[in-house]
Amino acid sequence: MSAAHLPDDVVRARLIPPARVLAAPMAGGPSTPELVAAVVGAGGGGFLAGGMRTAAQVREQVDALRGLLGGGDGSVDGSDAARRWGVNLFVPDAVNTAIPAAARTERARAERRAAVAAYRERLAAEGERAAGGAAAEGAGGAPTLPSPDDVTPDPARERAEFAAMLAAAEEQAWPLVSFTFGLPEPAVFARLAAAGIPAGITVTDADEARSARAHGAAFLVVQGHRAGGHRGTLDPAADPVERELPSVLAQVRAVVGTRVPVVAAGGVGAAAHVRSLLAAGADAVAAGTAFLLTAEAGTSAAHRAGIRRCATGEGFVGPDGAARTVLTRAYTGRWARTLATEFPAAHPDAPAAYPELNALTTGLRADAATAGDLERVHLWAGTQAHAAREAGAADVVAGLTP
Ligand SMILES: Cc1cc2nc3c(=O)[nH]c(=O)nc-3n(C[C@H](O)[C@H](O)[C@H](O)COP(=O)(O)O)c2cc1C
Repeated sequence: MSAAHLPDDVVRARLIPPARVLAAPMAGGPSTPELVAAVVGAGGGGFLAGGMRTAAQVREQVDALRGLLGGGDGSVDGSDAARRWGVNLFVPDAVNTAIPAAARTERARAERRAAVAAYRERLAAEGERAAGGAAAEGAGGAPTLPSPDDVTPDPARERAEFAAMLAAAEEQAWPLVSFTFGLPEPAVFARLAAAGIPAGITVTDADEARSARAHGAAFLVVQGHRAGGHRGTLDPAADPVERELPSVLAQVRAVVGTRVPVVAAGGVGAAAHVRSLLAAGADAVAAGTAFLLTAEAGTSAAHRAGIRRCATGEGFVGPDGAARTVLTRAYTGRWARTLATEFPAAHPDAPAAYPELNALTTGLRADAATAGDLERVHLWAGTQAHAAREAGAADVVAGLTP
């Protein structure tokens, strides 16, 4: 285990709020400084989403959040509320130590590129068919898809962007950092610890928890399969485990012990879920989907419309009124849970290639959102999406507090 660990009580003071409820990071718009500030103000904690943003954009969000929380102790309950937040960072493949060497060979790269090109061809053929039908009705042509070259990430650029985020964390003294999508090398955790910043990471099983601790993770976010949005497996090629979260928490505790701060996430729609996860070994619980319809969230209009349909029972629900969601790689190349739209069903064989597929389908999804065609939009949602409420974030925290 790394000697760079910060004392667990320092980590706990920032990470584990009195309400035991955190606003989970949600990239792509939903996480805003307003959302995190409202949740912190209600006795919770939360993370800004650094994913899909530049370091400069994240710096602005951090400044905005600090402005909303106030510079002082910001105490709402005797603890230091002004420091009960952090920033979540995506770990790009270039700095992800969990990717096996076999996936980094020239041959593996060529195969991946061919799979992306083949997927692009399928999407293009589909777009032409759809545009053919639309043309008969007098509408425009098929959307242009970026080329496989355009969507292939540049490792040097990924490394530079990741370094810019770490520099922002240090210079702005973020209270907490959480990583997802991969495991950075131990030096990254050590560097942040030396700057007084506890850095944790999302894991999805006990093996990942063990590796994360061995690299120096100060806390763990254990994400279950019911979670909305992307699965945070450390190896992007790994298939998701469908074990229920309380059982995963028990296995993680058996590996890391009782002192390491652990946050549980996935499928939280009521205080009863929070209670059961705390009983199963979590110190706090992070909710994402439950906040998507709040006034403070920056959820896009199409995403809001989809979640609202589910929550009102108008669509994306089964006969029992429960959300219908699916895990798919079709939108981005990484497993993610969305409301059960038609697009994943049409592409069950999408290759494991994030961020290429994300870039490939961005235009398609944006066009579909503009056209109000929710079936082709990524409507990230957990299995409790039917319980999402149109309310202030503080009300949602109160409803989830055990
Ligand atoms: C719209 C959306 C975006 C997300 N973006 C991120 C992200 O940027 N980073 C991350 O670690 N997790 C992300 N997640 C996963 C959440 O942090 C969290 O694990 C999940 O929302 C918990 O499950 P729940 O939605 O059922 O509450 C996202 C989830 C959603 C719904």
